[in-house]
Amino acid sequence: MTGPAGTAAGVVPAAGRGERLGAGAPKALRTLGGVPLLVHAVRALAAARAVGLVVVAAPPEDVAQVRALLDDHEVAAEVVVVAGGATRQESVRRALAALTPDVDVVLVHDAARPLVPVELVDRVAAAVRHGAPAVVPGLPVADTVKRVAPVDGSEQVVETLDRSALRAVQTPQGFRRDVLEAAHAAATDDATDDAGLVERAGGSVTVVPGSEEAFKVTRPLDLLLAEAVLARRRANGSLQ
Ligand code: C5P
Repeated sequence: MTGPAGTAAGVVPAAGRGERLGAGAPKALRTLGGVPLLVHAVRALAAARAVGLVVVAAPPEDVAQVRALLDDHEVAAEVVVVAGGATRQESVRRALAALTPDVDVVLVHDAARPLVPVELVDRVAAAVRHGAPAVVPGLPVADTVKRVAPVDGSEQVVETLDRSALRAVQTPQGFRRDVLEAAHAAATDDATDDAGLVERAGGSVTVVPGSEEAFKVTRPLDLLLAEAVLARRRANGSLQ
């Protein structure tokens, strides 16, 4: 083992409004099989042996409600709730500020990926423990992806990307704590994921195989799929 040897913590940005899912409660508080997405996501992280603490960034006006919600559900780790920020990046930054000194590995996981298998959490944590400073789970891309640009009022294709070299990246993304904190401190613009900040800071990011079940619940169809996956797991006797 060449990586850090302390405690791993989960960081869960859960302060988004989730507008693409339609009107209603903040996305993290929408239920899946009767349990909020956030609770699924926190439980999945806490189920990993390496994880002893999970810090959740909640919508600022919902901190007390989220705290009460997490108290009502059994979670196999200590859970701290902080107020999130106006962007995902700011929410992660606020959660990082609440980590205890013993934490040297951080797993950042979107509340919007409630069904991530614990095996994937373990795989990401193990890769950081074995020396990778930053780790993302990635899956091959099924669709052909084209770069586009507006031309004379319509959208035109500029380029077709080589699909074999593309990966759709998921969470949890794992980091050495010092690497992630430095990347956030150096960030000037917003990035859509934490590894993007490490890349911009010149750091290397390792890809490990992702999981189809770690998909992000963004649109109403994703909720239907998530309900089906959860129903299958429950039928197979897995608790969730
Ligand atoms: O909007 P998107 O689906 O990319 O959000 C990814 C994750 O970031 C979600 O779990 C969402 O709750 C979180 N987020 C946040 N603070 C924000 C915006 C999004 O914690 N201001």
